Amino acid sequence: MADKDPLVVFTPSGKRGRFPAGTPVLSAARQLGVDLDSVCGGRGICSKCQVTPAYGDFSKHGVTVAPDALSEWNAVEQRYQDKRGLKPGRRLGCQASVQRDVVIDVPPESQVHRQVVRKAASARVIEMDPATRLFYVEVDEPDMHEPTGDLERVARALRQQWDIPRVEAEFALLGQLQKVLRKGAWKITVALHKPHADAVPRLVAAWPGLHEGGLFGLAIDLGSTTIAAHLTDLDTGQVVASAGVMNPQIRFGEDLMSRVSYAMMNPGGDVEMTRVVREAIDTLTVEIAAEAGIDPALILEAVFVCNPVMHHLLLGIDPVELGQAPFALATSGALALSAVEMGLAALPGSAQVYILPCIAGHVGADAAAVALSEEPGKSEDLVLVVDVGTNAEILLGDRSRVLACSSPTGPAFEGAQISSGQRAAPGAIEAIRIDPETKEPRFRVIGCEKWSNEDGFREETAQSGITGICGSGIIEAVAEMRIAGLLDPSGLIGSAEQTGTGRCVADGRTHQYVIHDGTDSGGPRITVTQGDIRAIQLAKSALYAGARLLMDERGVDTVDRVVLAGAFGAHISPLHAMVLGMIPDVPLDRVTSAGNAAGTGARIALCNVAARREIERVVREITKVETAIEPRFQEHFVAANAIPHATDPFPELSKVVDLPKVAFGAGGDGGRDGGRRRRRRA
Ligand code: FES
Repeated sequence: MADKDPLVVFTPSGKRGRFPAGTPVLSAARQLGVDLDSVCGGRGICSKCQVTPAYGDFSKHGVTVAPDALSEWNAVEQRYQDKRGLKPGRRLGCQASVQRDVVIDVPPESQVHRQVVRKAASARVIEMDPATRLFYVEVDEPDMHEPTGDLERVARALRQQWDIPRVEAEFALLGQLQKVLRKGAWKITVALHKPHADAVPRLVAAWPGLHEGGLFGLAIDLGSTTIAAHLTDLDTGQVVASAGVMNPQIRFGEDLMSRVSYAMMNPGGDVEMTRVVREAIDTLTVEIAAEAGIDPALILEAVFVCNPVMHHLLLGIDPVELGQAPFALATSGALALSAVEMGLAALPGSAQVYILPCIAGHVGADAAAVALSEEPGKSEDLVLVVDVGTNAEILLGDRSRVLACSSPTGPAFEGAQISSGQRAAPGAIEAIRIDPETKEPRFRVIGCEKWSNEDGFREETAQSGITGICGSGIIEAVAEMRIAGLLDPSGLIGSAEQTGTGRCVADGRTHQYVIHDGTDSGGPRITVTQGDIRAIQLAKSALYAGARLLMDERGVDTVDRVVLAGAFGAHISPLHAMVLGMIPDVPLDRVTSAGNAAGTGARIALCNVAARREIERVVREITKVETAIEPRFQEHFVAANAIPHATDPFPELSKVVDLPKVAFGAGGDGGRDGGRRRRRRA
């Protein structure tokens, strides 16, 4: 580079340098370390290298760009323009060469490490740096006088054309490679998987010619009750389809310990549970690919997050050790293996699977994924992250230290074991309000924006019907019943006389509250029973006790803020979570929702290989707290059974809502107060 050579300034990176006239823009970018994509290696066929030159005066950069700063539009660009069209002002970076001083913008689509903004409330962005990338190569034909294998000639082409010194091949791919080479007339695109900077890349897929069908990955949150998957474009980072299925292992036991017991009591039970969960993942893979309209053969990566029992059963490891102290995992480290080794049939055999590390015997890769997504270890203030599911993952920490535990809440929060409970699907009640004066409910169902007392609700829900209550609906229903004075602090539902509403009807020796009776039109009668309240009390007590145990360990009685996460965490209303006593008392505006944090953690690990190393490091520094053997857990559990709580004060909650002082048990006051007290709602 000489002083008189043209100056090239790239935006948005601001990287600059002088290059001899005639240097292709792509080469200048490479030499400066500018993030400009290329799959075809500058042959003018992939269009990944598009740039936008800027003309005129740029005092900020000290550059004036003349109209002839780049070489003239060439035949390759014209051919691409005719076939596919380029956006106005765009050039192909591998074709346009530098002639004079120039400012060149690299648009986000042309950056390999582009940032993907999450839709969730948190502003965290995911930087694209996937482990699998595409490379187009032109391979030498075989020559009898110089005998070499096809794979060796592909490796030579990668060395010569892409400076990749060494590659290994996934065995499952070898059989296809010869056909692909011949079909492509020795011009092929290969997918190389490189899980970390020092790894030897693995050849995991090959296509004849230039492959333009994209690459995809699955981020899978394998929960005890549901399996949720996000199909993600590994180029753009966008989720192209999301789907979920129930975990078929439920038939062997609703919660984790009953599945471990099933494996203990039934020879071969673990093998059976492994088989059904892998089949469910295969079905989910096929369905999600169909929904996105892509070939499952293009899904070359999968990242799993799961609790330790799901982790072992997925891998075909007997979980028996996880059912008894000291809860030893077969391995707590992160795992990288192929789809063939994992026994997943719907993915290409060479697809690469990554499983996040587990934190401890009861604190799994799902908790690690929450830590990756919510980063409590980077928080300035003390944050409690609660991932609500059949097993709750709970993290407490700030920059100084992070603690984690897992608490067996059971499936009630997901609408299971609830008399009118159902999965979150159209027709399910997801939000409910009960008027404290009249005790009349109004509600919203999934699939309709209107409340049940609004015009048009009946018509808009005619298709789906009103079918049951989902997880967020049951949390709101129980909390609203407490606010409206239909439920006393011990969790007893009052009678019609005690509460003053005919919606509280006798149900054997207890009572139930009727939310909606659709029996006239052949629909269900949707109620909250005393049994439902007990199931929710058990679940929320376990959650609270887990959080409280971490607070004890940390030596605090309060936290600065709470993040509610979980598959339906984004739908839980902070006010109702606090009335129920799911979480410790904090100012209401300090409770936020993070959506499915475990699933987001899986997506981050899928899109960014450095994040995998990061979480492997972070997990080693997290303090694990074991709830199962901690006597204080039981004490906290019992005190947390009351709604909101028997002993812990709730001053912040009291600022926004006055909870009626009712008691419906023996010696109760019969609901004198009846919920008619003043109430302020946030
Ligand atoms: S690098 Fe492929 S078209 Fe320019």
